[in-house]
Amino acid sequence: MRHRVQLTIHPLPPSDHRQLLEPTISATDNMITETIIAFAPATVANVGPGFDIMGFSLSGPGDEVCASWTDAPGVTIAHISGDGGKLPVDAERNCVGVVAAALLAARGITRGVRLTLTKGLPLGSGMGSSAASSAAAALAVNTLIGSPFPPRELVRFAMIGEERACGAAHADNVAPAILGGFVLVASYEPLTFVELPCPSSLFYAVINPDFALETAVSRSVLPREVPLATTIKQSAALARLLCGLYQDDHELITSSLVDYLAEPVRLPLIPGSETVKRAAIDAGGYNCTISGSGPSLFSLCPSLEVAERVGQAMKGAFATHDINATAHTGQITRHPPRISIISPKSTDS
Ligand code: HSE
Repeated sequence: MRHRVQLTIHPLPPSDHRQLLEPTISATDNMITETIIAFAPATVANVGPGFDIMGFSLSGPGDEVCASWTDAPGVTIAHISGDGGKLPVDAERNCVGVVAAALLAARGITRGVRLTLTKGLPLGSGMGSSAASSAAAALAVNTLIGSPFPPRELVRFAMIGEERACGAAHADNVAPAILGGFVLVASYEPLTFVELPCPSSLFYAVINPDFALETAVSRSVLPREVPLATTIKQSAALARLLCGLYQDDHELITSSLVDYLAEPVRLPLIPGSETVKRAAIDAGGYNCTISGSGPSLFSLCPSLEVAERVGQAMKGAFATHDINATAHTGQITRHPPRISIISPKSTDS
């Protein structure tokens, strides 16, 4: 039996979150000889009005990446499970492979790295599936090479995986997948984040219908230009959401879970979505909108009990359209990255 050592990485203090620090150790210092396993959770991106700049992490499912050194040069993906054979094992075409390669290149490391990917999230789900893989790869490989980068800096590496997966290097899934809780991408240039409050009174219900919608497809329908009136409504909703989170004001949060930009053009890509939205609100959810690029939808709720009721109502609504769906409910909390070091030496015979 292999021995797991839990490693907890504590988030940086708030004063550090606007800086991208230069690594302070050499490429060979602190390298780990054991195997590293990192987990990154599902995420809800956009959160209504925060297109490409807001997201929160789920407490439930996610992806796991295992990283170890190998004699073969470059990055090798040894095995992928849980993807139904759909993801490429060619490291240059897979988000985990490009994230690992970018981390090695950033440190000038030429040793080979072997990865395995265990998908806990369905592909094209709108629950940050590629982000969870990319984030887990960044956490695992960073630990393997001696943790030169703090979690905040890993976001930009994980974004390389997002770009590979969907053509757009958006951070609203990978940032909460790495940092946990509610995260605002405060700026893309330079890349900065704000870890937002996670009111303990706030719970989520996410419904994942049993069909895939590729992010690249749901981004292709987005308008290239947005009318001024739409921008004003969207900005006001985002401001209400931020104020609602800081003030733990559920009325503000309820009225802010709207999206005038992407939802109108994306809802038609999700059969049954109008019925699901109505069902969530009728069951007591704080409105309901698309999770990330869909087809999942989500609602926020004042208790776990309401969230579970909303989840079942949304599942039932999809069922009326003959669509199976899985509900996920929980509390939005900040949590340290989950990384394990597995020592091959500690074996029981
Ligand atoms: N912000 C991204 C989008 C999230 O809506 O396209 C993709 O999961």
